[in-house]
Amino acid sequence: MSSRHDEGGTPAGERLQKVLAHAGVASRRHAEELISAGAVTVNGTVVRELGTRVDPRHDEVRVRGALVRPAAASLYILLNKPAGVVTTAHDPQGRRTVLELLPREWRDQRVYPVGRLDRDTEGLLLLTDDGELALRLTHPRYGLGKEYAALVAGRPTAATLRDLARGMALPGEERPTAPARVWLEQTAGDATWVGIELHEGRNRQVRRMFEAVGHPVLRLRRVRVGPLALGALPPGESRLLTPAEVDRLRRAVSDAAAQSAAPAAPDSRRYDDVKHDSAGQRRAGKRRPAHGDQPT
Ligand code: URA
Repeated sequence: MSSRHDEGGTPAGERLQKVLAHAGVASRRHAEELISAGAVTVNGTVVRELGTRVDPRHDEVRVRGALVRPAAASLYILLNKPAGVVTTAHDPQGRRTVLELLPREWRDQRVYPVGRLDRDTEGLLLLTDDGELALRLTHPRYGLGKEYAALVAGRPTAATLRDLARGMALPGEERPTAPARVWLEQTAGDATWVGIELHEGRNRQVRRMFEAVGHPVLRLRRVRVGPLALGALPPGESRLLTPAEVDRLRRAVSDAAAQSAAPAAPDSRRYDDVKHDSAGQRRAGKRRPAHGDQPT
């Protein structure tokens, strides 16, 4: 039980009725009734005051003598998915799944992938047991930006990249793709690394877009989801997001929701600073945010 305050003067801990509700003991309302009726003890003392704050990790809370186990904190995992692994929790065909790449204790907390990367796509994949945030991250309404590095066959022209960026028809689909950002990264022999940022997630979208313009994707890696960059995490490795990263992710989906409620503004930045180099090849200007993951 606590009358502690944090540095900003805000009372520390959580309200007792909230702790009971989060632990699944009762609804918030019923929890309040239990507290007022004297059915709840904190560290052995009956507490009837509704505003009482407790630290669910340290204070011992009981309802009619039964210990209340605090709700487990959610897990937020960033995995660098290698190619050849399927994005599912269980694969009936027995192929290697992304879950098998995680440490056992994370798997045991029943995390699942947020959205999907194709079997041959590499890069940033989030996994969590926080269903609400997962839904927001994948729901089209929030339109969170996802950035890919695609190695494509040949040399797409500036006009081709502009078509991809404006939105284009895909075979068998009526609705054109949403505006995207597309830029050249670097050439690699007969192929070209291209950066593309999408705000929607249709099935195999990047591959189908480049296929439709005659530059099939040879390799595809997701390097950013909203504010999170893949960084230098080696393929097959995973790490927990920091609390600050989880906050940034939450803020990104609320910002995206606010923007989707506003009239869409044309993205004037999309192509404007793509420059020609001496060989006539267009290159992205300095403006591109560094995503810490240079194409190889
Ligand atoms: N677009 C694709 O084509 N594949 C992916 O895995 C993700 C985006």
